[in-house]
Amino acid sequence: MAELDPVLRHIDAHLRAYIDQLREWVRIPSISAGAQEDTSGAIALASDFLMEEFGRLGLQAEKVQISADTNPLVVARSPSFSPGRPTVLIYGHYDVQGVDNPRSAWSFDPFAALERDGYLLGRGASDNKGPCFAHLKAVDALRQAGGELPVNLVFLIEGEEECGSRALSQFIARGGLESFGPIRCVLISDTSMYGPERPSLTLGLRGILFFQVTVHGPRQDVHSGLFGGILHNPNQLLVRALAALHQEDGRAAVPGFYDQVRPLSRREKALYDALEVDESAYCANLGVSRLIGEAGYSILERRWTRPTLEINFLSGGSPRTVIPARASAVISCRLVPDQDPARLEEALRDFIRDRLPEGTRVEFGNPHASPAYHLDPDHPLVPLALRAIRTGFGIEPVLTREGGSIPIVTDLYRRTGAPVLLVGLGQITDNWHGPDERFCLRDFHRGIRTSAALLCQLAQE
Ligand code: BES
Ligand code: MN
Repeated sequence: MAELDPVLRHIDAHLRAYIDQLREWVRIPSISAGAQEDTSGAIALASDFLMEEFGRLGLQAEKVQISADTNPLVVARSPSFSPGRPTVLIYGHYDVQGVDNPRSAWSFDPFAALERDGYLLGRGASDNKGPCFAHLKAVDALRQAGGELPVNLVFLIEGEEECGSRALSQFIARGGLESFGPIRCVLISDTSMYGPERPSLTLGLRGILFFQVTVHGPRQDVHSGLFGGILHNPNQLLVRALAALHQEDGRAAVPGFYDQVRPLSRREKALYDALEVDESAYCANLGVSRLIGEAGYSILERRWTRPTLEINFLSGGSPRTVIPARASAVISCRLVPDQDPARLEEALRDFIRDRLPEGTRVEFGNPHASPAYHLDPDHPLVPLALRAIRTGFGIEPVLTREGGSIPIVTDLYRRTGAPVLLVGLGQITDNWHGPDERFCLRDFHRGIRTSAALLCQLAQE
């Protein structure tokens, strides 16, 4: 049985090397969503980097290529599973978002992996290479200082989290997890801490429903002086339909949108009501003068426990006197427990179709959907995880939820039946998906310690 203290000392003593290794990974521009050019070379490099790392950790690693048009999964496991030990599955992603957010808004090179004022700067530093790497380095320390691993380990690191997790969902659907036997828990660090110096265990994630809608008009853009007055304008049709999606008070106007929402338990409401919220800090960070949202719900309830409906992107026509050939939008909803993504997708499509004139050609494309995830706050692993975070950080952690989505979480949960422990190491101010992403290296350090503590405690359970 691994003793924790020497492992923690090993982590403290080797942090510098761990950071340098992480920087090497962050330098690889493994973009899976919103790339301007072909990034398959970087995807290969980022997954090769993991293969080498796992090799050094003494794990058996395999690149799994599900199909020619998906990014490889990296699956690693301890070489021999001991029947007396629990099996822990650790998930992360090596793909990152694009950098044209816009590119000129970045104040540093997104792939230089610079270190400044205790932060590692770079795309993917926080979402998700840094937090994911913390678990690899915990395994390194357990091996170097403790000898044998306290649990059987499986790492599942994908390269498509930011673009729909196709390969991983196929891998899971085809029974890819079956050979590992029963899984005691899934461990993921792809969420945020409640705040600086406020580590947390996240009990829930919102689900997502995402799709593109395109309204078609004339065969190509045409002169609005020649043809204006006799044609439907796709921009106008689309914005009219989209404008109907919300009521005056901002709530979704789509029939049935809120019908399946499971009300928040009093126990959880009390947990979140007890967390301090600084509205002016949100405003300052976001650069807005005030926050808005559904009446009757607190800021945290609105961020974590209420569904949303957003128009993420609009395009159509050009700034000239034309009637465009088409107009399109990307729409997404964040979903909460008990909302069925398929049912809502139907409701949204019907709603939009019903608001377009007879005969309009409308197309719905690129759908992704996944339901919300929720862990019962009374689950027996909750106190164990809190104890590990307390050990790793030396700070009392809080229970939270999050508003973001990790689509594969519900597949992992359904397939393994194991609780998913979400131990976030990022901050909501780390600029995920935007310019100037960064990761606090103190949280990297304390995250490695937390991971080591958690694996040791799971062995003792
Ligand atoms: N790390 C995030 C998930 C996340 C976001 C957790 C915010 C907690 C708070 C993840 O990499 C991500 O961005 N997921 C996407 C999924 C989508 C592209 C299907 C998301 O939430 O938008
Ligand atoms: Mn992520």
